[in-house]
Amino acid sequence: MNPFGDQGDQQGDQREYLQDLLSEGWVRQAEWVGEVDSTNSWAKRELQDSSSESVPRLWVADRQTEGRGRGTHRWWSPEGCLMFSLAWRPPDDASLRERLPQLALVIGIAIAKGIDRLGSLPCQVKWPNDLYLNERKVGGILVEAVGNACWVIGVGLNVRVPVDEANEEIRSRATSLHYWSHRPLDRTQVLDEVLEQIKQEIETWCSDERYLEREWESRCFLRDRLVEVDGPSGKGIGKCQGIDSFGRLRWTDSGGKTHTVLSGTVRAV
Ligand code: BTN
Repeated sequence: MNPFGDQGDQQGDQREYLQDLLSEGWVRQAEWVGEVDSTNSWAKRELQDSSSESVPRLWVADRQTEGRGRGTHRWWSPEGCLMFSLAWRPPDDASLRERLPQLALVIGIAIAKGIDRLGSLPCQVKWPNDLYLNERKVGGILVEAVGNACWVIGVGLNVRVPVDEANEEIRSRATSLHYWSHRPLDRTQVLDEVLEQIKQEIETWCSDERYLEREWESRCFLRDRLVEVDGPSGKGIGKCQGIDSFGRLRWTDSGGKTHTVLSGTVRAV
């Protein structure tokens, strides 16, 4: 008996789902296990000694013992959280190569759209890699390079996570889809929707240089909010103006000067 009440989340259903997914043809190889250290670490280990033919490739786990977040953060990984890693190899295209730092943002948009499609859940993206639902974090994205031609896209999404059992820090800022959805959701269903959307958005982004400018604005969690930005050149406070065409966060300080930051952390204050 599954204590989280995931319908259709038993091993047989998972196997059947993966078979259907493989027969659709985009994902070439897929595996779903009960427990692993981290699906990103698992993916990176396996990619080291496999042929490039097997990408896109998917790794899913019910639980992680060492789930990783950005930087030194850990990812709380109980059953009920959808945790997967997808290996993707970009087409060899010069104009796309310089846009690759945008990948996590594109995945954020794709997941937000997928969640929205599951039942009008107004999911937003918080630069650079968080997913927010009704002012709380519902998921996170960890994109890592493997060699110079392959990317591992790691996604953690709270589908049926008992947030009230988490530690105080998580409890005060996280949420789970099942608190907001008007119909029962299981991880397989969410995975299916999200993967389909990832495939579509990646394809569009690869062929459209203006993709990010067009898509980010309406999903941006921080837009027009007062934010504290911690970037390579230090901390600052100002109003978030969304992102620029490179995917850098834009914000204006109290003197009206606009700044951009390519990497770092930001929080609404
Ligand atoms: C973050 O919010 O900092 C990113 C969290 C990413 C978590 C996912 S869960 C699946 C994959 N495996 C990991 O170890 N991390 C990512």
